[in-house]
Amino acid sequence: MSIEIPPGLTELLQGYTVEVLRQRPPDLLEFAVQYFTCLREKRLQDGVVADAALHRPHTRVVNFDGEPMQTDSNGEEDEDDDDSDFEPPVINRYSRRVSVCAEAFNPDEEDEDTEPREQLSQVLDAMFERRVQPQEHVIDQGDDGDNFYVVERGLYDIFVARDGQSRCVGAYDNHGSFGELALMYNTPRAATIAATTEGALWGLDRVTFRRIILKNNAKKRKMFEAFVECVPVLKSLEVSERMKLVDVLGERIYKDGDRIIGQGDKADCFYIVESGEVKIMMKSKTKTGQEGNQEVELTRCKRGQYFGELALVTNKPRAASAYAVDNVKCLVMDVQAFERLLGPCMDIMKRNITHYEEQLVSLFGSSMDLRDPGK
Ligand code: CMP
Ligand code: CMP
Repeated sequence: MSIEIPPGLTELLQGYTVEVLRQRPPDLLEFAVQYFTCLREKRLQDGVVADAALHRPHTRVVNFDGEPMQTDSNGEEDEDDDDSDFEPPVINRYSRRVSVCAEAFNPDEEDEDTEPREQLSQVLDAMFERRVQPQEHVIDQGDDGDNFYVVERGLYDIFVARDGQSRCVGAYDNHGSFGELALMYNTPRAATIAATTEGALWGLDRVTFRRIILKNNAKKRKMFEAFVECVPVLKSLEVSERMKLVDVLGERIYKDGDRIIGQGDKADCFYIVESGEVKIMMKSKTKTGQEGNQEVELTRCKRGQYFGELALVTNKPRAASAYAVDNVKCLVMDVQAFERLLGPCMDIMKRNITHYEEQLVSLFGSSMDLRDPGK
């Protein structure tokens, strides 16, 4: 019995997969809704109909023979010398020109050449599936880097050994990606990643990762470096730390009224407003301290200001909701990168919690311990 794959399905999913790899959104489902909604809106606007390009057959290679390791040490320019021309992979007519999702890093740049398709198929052909068993080490700290991994499913602990002591510093819970550091900076693996359940990963070999993803990072550096230098909370970072930060940043775009984070939700990332305004709202408290239904505005965050750090610092659910006012662009960083890279900014963030608490006292009249809301 043969199973017929509908024309266009493979390319549609490939486009989505590549955007996931590029932007590494914390919530795959939410990102999928955004991504496919944009595609549909764009198609309606353009009146584009499926054409022969969508019928191009494609076979995903799931068993990948690893390429030899590179031993270069001079950053990202080595495997290809036309970084400045790099366009993020774009899959087909549906995803071309989708400024909101598919071209988030530089919506103004339009390029009709076919190179992005070639790059995309290189990524997809090089991706391979890796199944893992509980207790299996996907990566061992100190090893050379071979692959970058995207979590398809499963739980994975992150262990970092220092001074002979190994400590669990976090975990991946059915989403996220890891293994980029050794490939990006030509350093030994910085952590051990151990599966705690059965799971599945998508791997991307080092050579393809460097060729495609690092070029994208070079482009991000050009775009975000100047902005990141002006973000007050990041002032305490060294230049090299800021560069690493730029490498892990993703960009998200919201429309007026979109809820960016919801009070009480589990937290997985940190935001810096790049443009537009974000309204922070909290459910009012009744006299007995119970949560009411009405939301009260606490503050607004503008360009260069951050939000969403509190829950990451305190390991608590989100203390408030955040909504886009008009069109908003945010730079986003996942919790692992936040913990790894923003250590030097932690004092400022922690001091700010006292400021939040004072603000809540003046609004609701009773004190609230944000560090331990259960008290
Ligand atoms: P890499 O050093 O290539 O291999 C281990 C990976 O663990 C690393 O890339 C990161 O992707 C990931 N990781 C997550 N948290 C940390 C952390 N706190 N320190 C170092 N690596 C981390
Ligand atoms: P987090 O709790 O992760 O998500 C909601 C965010 O709202 C919170 O982080 C802060 O960044 C931001 N915020 C701004 N003002 C306040 C406040 N007074 N109390 C709590 N959170 C606030």
